[in-house]
Amino acid sequence: MARLLYIESSPRQARSHSTAVAETFLVAYQATHPGDEVDRLDLWAENLPRFDGEMLNAKYSIMHGEQPAASEQAAWATVEGIFARFNAADKYLFSVPMWNLGLPYVLKHYIDIITQPGLAWSFDPASGSYQGLVRGKVAVVFASGGMYHPGSGAEALDMQKPSFYNWLGFIGLTEVSTITVAGTLFGPEATAQARQEGAAQAQALGASF
Ligand SMILES: Cc1cc2nc3c(=O)[nH]c(=O)nc-3n(C[C@H](O)[C@H](O)[C@H](O)COP(=O)(O)O)c2cc1C
Repeated sequence: MARLLYIESSPRQARSHSTAVAETFLVAYQATHPGDEVDRLDLWAENLPRFDGEMLNAKYSIMHGEQPAASEQAAWATVEGIFARFNAADKYLFSVPMWNLGLPYVLKHYIDIITQPGLAWSFDPASGSYQGLVRGKVAVVFASGGMYHPGSGAEALDMQKPSFYNWLGFIGLTEVSTITVAGTLFGPEATAQARQEGAAQAQALGASF
């Protein structure tokens, strides 16, 4: 039995294009993988802890090869708990709207909390190289109001997809399938077409994921 973690990062619920296409993926996935467990993580319902103070101190302690100090241990235990839920998955599904050319801040907040030394990545001083420690395969549903595909003339503005792919690769997640629902602010016809194409891709990918 595999475990799929679905991470939702639009707060728009029923009006969200990325969430709707991800839900289509999940329906197809559950139909073909009835024994698998699906864990849903709505980042807006999660009340993530602030990433500051002792949490940062603990991170630096670990990076310097030390145990977190007594004052940092509670913060580090919180990080470990949030990471453990993430790392318990074999497969990941993300729905990711573009906000100001990049990621919604709640997703960046989550990334900051879980991207930790000794948990998500390690560093080898001898070779000077980083290694991702997370394993699994990933499906991502990106949504954007505009269009940023190659040849659009706007691709250089897109910090949503490149930054997300870089982060996934940094923590070790290199098997990534993408569905893009683009042009959701280009009027009802363009939106309906983007949604329809996204849903068809989600159905096929979800069934075979
Ligand atoms: C705060 C905010 C910033 C946005 N910035 C951009 C942007 O820079 N470029 C863009 O193409 N669309 C932008 N949009 C539009 C969304 O990407 C678009 O509406 C998308 O469908 C949102 O995903 P959702 O429907 O899953 O919530 C922005 C939307 C919001 C709410």
